[in-house]
Amino acid sequence: MPRLPTTAIIGAGSSGITAAKALHERGLQFDCFESSDRLGGNWVFANKNGMSAAYRDLHINTSRKRMEFSDFPMPESYPDFAHHTQIADYFDAYADHFAIRERILFETQIEHAAPRSDGSWELTDERGNTRAYDMLIVANGHHSDARWPEPAFPGADKFAGVQMHAHDYRDNEFLKDKDVVVLGIGNSAMDIAAEAGYVASRTHLAARRGAHIVPKYLFGRPMDQLPTNPRIPPWLAYRVFSACVRLHTGRPERYGLPKPDHAFGQAHPTVSGRILDAISHGTVTPQANIERLGPDWVSFTDGTQVHADVVIYCTGYRITFPFFDTDFLSAPENRIELFKRVFAPQHPTLAFVGLLQPLGAIMPLAEAQGVLLADYLQGRYRVPSAPAMLADIRRENDRMRKRYVASKRHTIQVDFDRYLHDLRREHRRGIERARVAGYPLPVPASGARTQAVGRA
Ligand SMILES: Cc1cc2nc3c(=O)[nH]c(=O)nc-3n(C[C@H](O)[C@H](O)[C@H](O)COP(=O)(O)OP(=O)(O)OC[C@H]3O[C@@H](n4cnc5c(N)ncnc54)[C@H](O)[C@@H]3O)c2cc1C
Ligand SMILES: NC(=O)c1ccc[n+]([C@@H]2O[C@H](COP(=O)([O-])OP(=O)(O)OC[C@H]3O[C@@H](n4cnc5c(N)ncnc54)[C@H](OP(=O)(O)O)[C@@H]3O)[C@@H](O)[C@H]2O)c1
Repeated sequence: MPRLPTTAIIGAGSSGITAAKALHERGLQFDCFESSDRLGGNWVFANKNGMSAAYRDLHINTSRKRMEFSDFPMPESYPDFAHHTQIADYFDAYADHFAIRERILFETQIEHAAPRSDGSWELTDERGNTRAYDMLIVANGHHSDARWPEPAFPGADKFAGVQMHAHDYRDNEFLKDKDVVVLGIGNSAMDIAAEAGYVASRTHLAARRGAHIVPKYLFGRPMDQLPTNPRIPPWLAYRVFSACVRLHTGRPERYGLPKPDHAFGQAHPTVSGRILDAISHGTVTPQANIERLGPDWVSFTDGTQVHADVVIYCTGYRITFPFFDTDFLSAPENRIELFKRVFAPQHPTLAFVGLLQPLGAIMPLAEAQGVLLADYLQGRYRVPSAPAMLADIRRENDRMRKRYVASKRHTIQVDFDRYLHDLRREHRRGIERARVAGYPLPVPASGARTQAVGRA
């Protein structure tokens, strides 16, 4: 038997643990590094790594049947849209069930990861320990580095109240009797505006474009469990879905929200069972985009102005890899070119898990990526040539540009069913490529690389 490559996984959130499980089941040598003392990443409320955006009342907006891993169902006692504590417990149970916990090096933050001349990797943690591996799998998440408005709004430096990002919002206690402006029309803005509306004196929801607001249930079923078929073109599926949502709630403009400048399905879904109620109760008031801030006020692009004590920017996240040298790899404007959102064509020893934004949940897609990578490491799956991967990336990028509203939140967007379907097809093709090539290992395996090689 040839020696199989050794692997480092950065991150033990839901993406990292499912990749770890896939490698563990094949008996592959790997270490999974986690900066926190707990696994589960974003789903660990007040995670000591400072990377979780979970707030006290956060519930999933992708239903549990869509979110669970294929071989480990969430408990039937869970509600459809479970609370973050239940989701964190579920990931803990998954890791224990598949004996992954003992494969994680907790409280070990990777500060630097650099390829060596032979393509293998040198990883340095925050204590200066250096270890080497044949392959690196990055699963560091893409919802922890807050993106503030760029440039800042005029007058933001003169505002005397609190300005904060959704990433740091924990609960609405501090908003009691305050005048609050929430900016954005994604899921963070919906939840935070609705929560502010319960206690604040006034809550204003500012947005630079409209969104189709999707309810959590349609026809008595979680909206993401309605039957779909990857062979039906998305435009048709979304047209039908859109008509159903319109019948259910009416147009967003009817509530005073901006009219969407795009068709349904051309933006990441804004799912909220609460925001339309909050608007119709008068606890949240829709506004145009922020234009400028004064010492105690915010003005909007339609010329209106309101008193404000707190401004909460729900303006999304940056994709960053703080452990890479920027001239090696970065994601400027959230753009990163990966084959099937997994492989970096120029770097056969580097892969990513969970770096995608589905219309649906991330976990089953990360699970499928992990299985693909286990086959890759064993030589059972072979990627196409670099030019073929680049051509596929270009085609996908073109398709995405045509499909979605131009925004930094739509650079890694996929359709859940279509992506799984495509990845499985590519997996089968790669298995055939590997068979024809005689199952060569994808990366040179160099032996005892998991041992520490020094202290920085
Ligand atoms: C408020 C909010 C709600 C969301 N709700 C949903 C939802 O309902 N459904 C859904 O599918 N998705 C949702 N998401 C998307 C979210 O990204 C995924 O649910 C999930 O957390 C992705 O898992 P991950 O493992 O890729 O990343 P994360 O959960 O962010 O985990 C990454 C892990 O990597 C570790 N790490 C990072 N850098 C290093 C390093 N240098 N060294 C060591 N360890 C490191 C972190 O400590 C962390 O544990 C939500 C996101 C937010 C912000
Ligand atoms: N489970 C849940 O209930 C839940 C709750 C919160 C978040 N989430 C998930 O967490 C992820 C992040 O969501 P998010 O809402 O934080 O971010 P997001 O989806 O990236 O939305 C960011 C919003 O801010 C707007 N924006 C960005 N920069 C702006 C600027 N300079 N001026 C005005 N508006 C600006 C964007 O508008 P444009 O579209 O014009 O760019 C968009 O409306 C998503 O996957 C989401 O589904 C889930």
